Amino acid sequence: MTAITDAPRGLAGLVVAETSIGDVLGSEGRYHYRGYDAVELASGADFEKAWHLLVLGTLPDADAADRFRERIARLRVLPASVLEFLTHAPPVDPLRGLQTTLPVLAAARGARPLCDLDEAARVEEALAVAAAAPGILAWFRHQSAIAPKPSGRGVVADYLLAVTGHEPDDRAVHALSAYLIATLDHGFNASTFTARVIASTGADMGSCVAGGIGALSGPLHGGAPSRALDTLDAVAAAGHAASRASIERYVRGELASGRRLMGFGHAVYRTADPRARLLRRIAEEFGGPRVELALEYEAVAERLLAEYKPGRDLHTNVEFYAAVVMEQCGIPREMFTPTFAMARIVGWTAHVLEQARDPKIIRPSSRYVG
Ligand code: ACO
Repeated sequence: MTAITDAPRGLAGLVVAETSIGDVLGSEGRYHYRGYDAVELASGADFEKAWHLLVLGTLPDADAADRFRERIARLRVLPASVLEFLTHAPPVDPLRGLQTTLPVLAAARGARPLCDLDEAARVEEALAVAAAAPGILAWFRHQSAIAPKPSGRGVVADYLLAVTGHEPDDRAVHALSAYLIATLDHGFNASTFTARVIASTGADMGSCVAGGIGALSGPLHGGAPSRALDTLDAVAAAGHAASRASIERYVRGELASGRRLMGFGHAVYRTADPRARLLRRIAEEFGGPRVELALEYEAVAERLLAEYKPGRDLHTNVEFYAAVVMEQCGIPREMFTPTFAMARIVGWTAHVLEQARDPKIIRPSSRYVG
């Protein structure tokens, strides 16, 4: 029998699995996917290539990348029964809508528990679920299909068209691609862990991803970016945009009343979040008053976090500039977390495939204190 030991609160710092998908080096302020620096990959802005790396294990050459794009384009076409379901689905927020549609997609594909499938069939499920997600999310945004067919410009451009309703320019496609690649995977965060726990039961791919979506939806995880933008709105509405001193009054008010600043702090990074640095650079390329306000706000917030929470090393996390960049790309804030999910699903599916190769169910213990 296994000896029972207490895990640290929040399982922080506890190694619960081995992975070859990627690693977050929190104290060094960097992370990688299968050995490739994630920020460099994101700067290259080829979403499908990064997807291939995570799920199929290699960075593809030009021919393999083209074949992969064709494979994804085929899988993006939603089955008739899914379209029928979407047509009659009530209006719900797109993330919930995707979560609800995944069992319908699984049924349409005749998907079975992962433990009953061979590796090739599992990979096909992994690609199919992630390929279907952007179209389903966009459907729930409009309650109709704006761009149902793959155009040849790739997943990211088609998603932007579907969400915003107009053809995106190259700068927006590049910026959003960088954001999506930068958020494909990030260690054993809550949603990835959730997806892996479900995978360890042998469940089907859709169930693993639906569980990941539930974990991601929480404000402490994937639900922060729209709140970060709400903060900038509050600052701007109060007429604070011009003055660092008045931003300081606002931030002091938040911290003094014990509220957390959305888009700041991270469970692993004790230096600047490298994703925040990348996205700040992209935001600066867009420029404009909104970006200037964000930069001002960041400077004040970091200084005051150091004052109110000394020794905690609280900096901007990925969510703060993600919000700014997505807004610049024309994405409405109710689509921020769904857009994050569209990327992270790729990471979850890679982790689910890895977990499915290990037949051991994840089953920790609790200590009864009642
Ligand atoms: N604003 C104010 N104080 C903060 C913040 C913040 N954003 N983040 C942490 N702190 C404080 C905590 O109150 C705590 O103070 P205390 O020790 O006096 O109680 C201290 O800093 C350490 O905080 P923890 O909760 O231990 O930090 P943890 O590593 O568990 O949490 C988290 C990380 C959840 C991201 C936290 O920083 C937070 O709530 N941030 C705001 C929400 C946010 O931006 N979420 C997106 C995260 S990125 C992602 O999930 C993709």
